[in-house]
Amino acid sequence: MHPYSEAYYRRELQRMSAVRPMVLGSLVVSRESGPRPGDGYMYVETRRTMLRDVPVLRLDGEVWMSLTPMEVQSTFMAIQLAHGRVGTAGLGLGYFVQRALEKPEVESVIVYELNDDVLQLYRRTFGVHPKLELHHANARLLEGEQWDFFYADFYRHLLTPQAIDDMAALSSANLIGSYHWWSIEQTVLEALHAGLADRLPRWMLDAYLPFLRLFAQHARSRTVQLFGCGAALVEELERHGLGRRNSFVQT
Ligand SMILES: C[S@@+](CC[C@H](N)C(=O)[O-])C[C@H]1O[C@@H](n2cnc3c(N)ncnc32)[C@H](O)[C@@H]1O
Repeated sequence: MHPYSEAYYRRELQRMSAVRPMVLGSLVVSRESGPRPGDGYMYVETRRTMLRDVPVLRLDGEVWMSLTPMEVQSTFMAIQLAHGRVGTAGLGLGYFVQRALEKPEVESVIVYELNDDVLQLYRRTFGVHPKLELHHANARLLEGEQWDFFYADFYRHLLTPQAIDDMAALSSANLIGSYHWWSIEQTVLEALHAGLADRLPRWMLDAYLPFLRLFAQHARSRTVQLFGCGAALVEELERHGLGRRNSFVQT
C-alpha cells in the first residue's frame, strides 16, 4: 500500500488501537483529535480535514511521538528495511517495534530506551513477545553489539546533524548490516536538491531513491518542504568519513 495514501494511514492508526491514555511518572499518553497538522513528511499539508483519536506521547511535557501522517510516512522505510536481528532506539509509542515484530523476515527486535517509564508503557500496552528484548539503555553508549539492521529514532527533530554523528559512532563501535535514521530520506532529498547526489554514498541512493519516487507521485499536487540544508548534511557525512569517496559502511 502507498505510504502516502489515506488508507495506509488509517490502517496504521488502527494497528495502534491498544494504546490507551495513561500517566506514568513524567510520561503522559493521550489520544487527541484536531485539524491535520501542516507538516507532512517532506510536503506541506493543505487539506483541512480532521484527525481523530491520534496517540500522543509526552515526556516532561514535550511531545516525543504522535501517530500523525508525517510520523507514519517517515517510519515506512524503517519498517520496509527491517530484517534479521533488528536493533532500535528509542521505543516511543512502540509503533516501529510493533510493525517490525509482525514481519516474518525479522528474527528479533532489540530495543534500547533511555526512559524507564517508556519501557513500562510498552509492557502495559503490548505485553511480551517471543521475538522482543527491551533494554533500559542510552543508545549512544552501545558497543560490541551486532545487528543486521539498526533503526535510530531517538530524535525530536528532523534532519539533525546529530543523527549523522550517531551513525558514525554506533557504526564504528558495533557491527551493523544496514543503518537507518529517522529522516534519512529527507537527507537524500536535500542533497539531491542541492545538486550533491554524487557526494552521497551509493547505498543511500540505492536504498532511498525508490521511496523518493513514491514521494514524487504524491508531491506532484503538493508543495515540497525543503530546508536547504543539503550541503551541510553532505559535509557532515564527509566529516565522519561517510560520504561517497570514503564511506566505511554499507558500500
Ligand atoms: C521519537 S521517539 C521514538 C518513536 C518510535 N520510533 C515509535 O515508533 O514509536 C524517541 C524515543 O527515544 C528515547 N530516547 C531519547 N534519547 C535516547 C537515548 N540516548 N537512548 C535511548 N533512547 C533515547 C525517548 O525517550 C523516546 O522514547
